[in-house]
Amino acid sequence: MLPKNARYSNTMIAIHWLTAVLVLVAYLVSEGGRRVRVDPPVLHFACGFAVLVLVFARLFARAAGGVPAPPGSVGPTLARAAKLGHAVLYLLLVAVPLTGWYAASRLGVPIDLWGLRIPAIAAAVKGRIGAIGEIHQIGGNAILILAGLHAAAGLWHQFARRDHTLERMSPF
Ligand code: HEM
Ligand code: HEM
Repeated sequence: MLPKNARYSNTMIAIHWLTAVLVLVAYLVSEGGRRVRVDPPVLHFACGFAVLVLVFARLFARAAGGVPAPPGSVGPTLARAAKLGHAVLYLLLVAVPLTGWYAASRLGVPIDLWGLRIPAIAAAVKGRIGAIGEIHQIGGNAILILAGLHAAAGLWHQFARRDHTLERMSPF
């Protein structure tokens, strides 16, 4: 068992895993723009918005509670690479839902989350909505690819380098 100061806080751990599940579900139930207009994917919108809310809660918890120092076995270059990877993930966790919100607004699709009506952030257009839909789609794919690499790095640390990295984020 790792000492408490080598692990993330319970709040950070809960938000990390909840976010991972929500991103995966949002990805799995995503649809292209033409279908979105006909049959708005409410679950996609809801999971995406939950990711957006949680990333701010997480950044707040991070600023208030701090994070554990990198494991002693990790050199400065690897620690910097991990920091950069995490920063890009945070950026995507904000940018992907925001671009999706913008795309939905341009499509003129009401974002109605079981009674909670989210306002549009752009004027609706009749035909094609421009590049924003593609940017959102690329961002959605990028977050999944990067999270996959990130998970592989975590597993490599835990099982090849045996430096207990996964336990730092483990709820158990
Ligand atoms: C969509 C999926 C995921 C996202 C967006 C994500 C994002 C992040 C971010 C941003 C951090 C940095 C936390 C911080 O220092 O503030 C982090 C840490 C971590 N993640 Fe993930 N993650 C995902 C999935 C996974 C999976 C599937 C695993 C494991 C197999 C994993 C294992 C870890 C571990 C072990 C840490 C702590 C790393 C350290 O101690 O420096 N993550 N994750
Ligand atoms: C982490 C959260 C999200 C991920 C991973 C994600 C992922 C994706 C992906 C991969 C697509 C392309 C689907 C396809 O073409 O088959 C897509 C489309 C779309 N998403 Fe998201 N999304 C997220 C959040 C959101 C949010 C919060 C909204 C808006 C409320 C949203 C609205 C849309 C819309 C309108 C499209 C269709 C865009 C178009 O093709 O013109 N997404 N999303």
